[in-house]
Amino acid sequence: MTSHGQLRIGVIGCGAGVFHLEGYAEEPRAKVIALAGLDTDRCQELAKRFDVPHVYGDYTELLAHGEIQAVSIAAPNHLHLPMTLAALEAGKHVLVEKPLARSVAEGEQMVEAARRAGLVLAIAFNRRSRHDVYLLQKHVRRGALGRIYYAKAFWMRRSGIPGLGSWFTSKEKAGGGPLIDLGVHVLDMALWCMGNPRVSAVSAATYAELGPQGKGQWQGGRFRVNPGVPYEVEDLAAAFLRMEDGATMHLETSWAGYTGHTDEFGLSLLGSQGGAEIHVKDYAQTGTLRLFGEVEGVPSDCMPRLEKRHGHGEIIHRFVDSILDGKPADPSGEEGLDRVRLIEAIYRSAELGREVKVEDSSSRATEEQPVS
Ligand SMILES: NC(=O)c1ccc[n+]([C@@H]2O[C@H](COP(=O)([O-])OP(=O)(O)OC[C@H]3O[C@@H](n4cnc5c(N)ncnc54)[C@H](O)[C@@H]3O)[C@@H](O)[C@H]2O)c1
Repeated sequence: MTSHGQLRIGVIGCGAGVFHLEGYAEEPRAKVIALAGLDTDRCQELAKRFDVPHVYGDYTELLAHGEIQAVSIAAPNHLHLPMTLAALEAGKHVLVEKPLARSVAEGEQMVEAARRAGLVLAIAFNRRSRHDVYLLQKHVRRGALGRIYYAKAFWMRRSGIPGLGSWFTSKEKAGGGPLIDLGVHVLDMALWCMGNPRVSAVSAATYAELGPQGKGQWQGGRFRVNPGVPYEVEDLAAAFLRMEDGATMHLETSWAGYTGHTDEFGLSLLGSQGGAEIHVKDYAQTGTLRLFGEVEGVPSDCMPRLEKRHGHGEIIHRFVDSILDGKPADPSGEEGLDRVRLIEAIYRSAELGREVKVEDSSSRATEEQPVS
């Protein structure tokens, strides 16, 4: 604790790490005292902006700082496992960026290590904290839509590959393309709103059409092209998911494609008593949720008045709650692992060209027992 009784925090990674710094800046019970990243200039600039006294290139030096009690990990996906294990080993609670890991095997090690250490492992599913998603989840939980039988979740970009030739387009470093990067968010949003039904089978296809041609790079922004590095992941993934309760979901996700979508995500839920749609264009926070029902038998549309929210701020608030008050991590490492399990099954199905079963909580996609 600091002299103000605040938790002492370290942030690893200075790209998406900025969202964590903004979140901690809004949380009076915590103070970031160290940053780590390989890009010295970016880290120094953030340290100055957020008044962080210690900056390291090597994250193990940050973990060796005895006063740090918890860390945020916002580094490339292949580092989530080693950084989480090292942080837990050093006795720090962990908030890790999405996706939890590249594979179920990695995610299981992280969840198990946190359980054994008795430390918090939370995941930054920050889109859950959007006002539209939060409201919809509450509305569904109250039973307002009846039984949800069909869902659609999507995140589509016209030209949004986050750095052709960067770690994002390396299969080894990222674990996949838009499915593991963007799909994990909308899959989580939709399943969370539906009450986390168990997915029993998936059928999927993936494509890499624009990326290998060197097309589809994110226009502007912080992501740079590394010419000459091969493009190794999909640029579009489509999947059909079957739930144990009979509901189904269509998932669609793309970094780049000849489509009218600029950068748009959302979901639709169809229930026996009502429906809902979230459609977010270019990260809008208001005017994005519509609820469908009936007034005296006449079809009705309702658009709740939404507030803007800082998604990571809410996640960090709950992370601090878990550490200080012993509340269960929310969203938890286990939920992160569940989403990785589905992503792994989707990639497996696309590879095999057929539907695959998703086993129970310890499951992975089974090649040996295809459904069809
Ligand atoms: N939740 C969200 O909205 C959101 C948004 C963007 C990215 N992300 C996630 O955040 C993670 C990072 O993505 P990004 O866009 O910030 O990538 P990035 O490439 O912009 O930044 C990665 C950071 O990690 C640091 N890093 C890399 N290797 C390191 C090492 N060995 N030791 C210490 N630091 C190291 C880099 O120096 C850099 O600061 C990914 O898992 C990504 O999926 C989440």
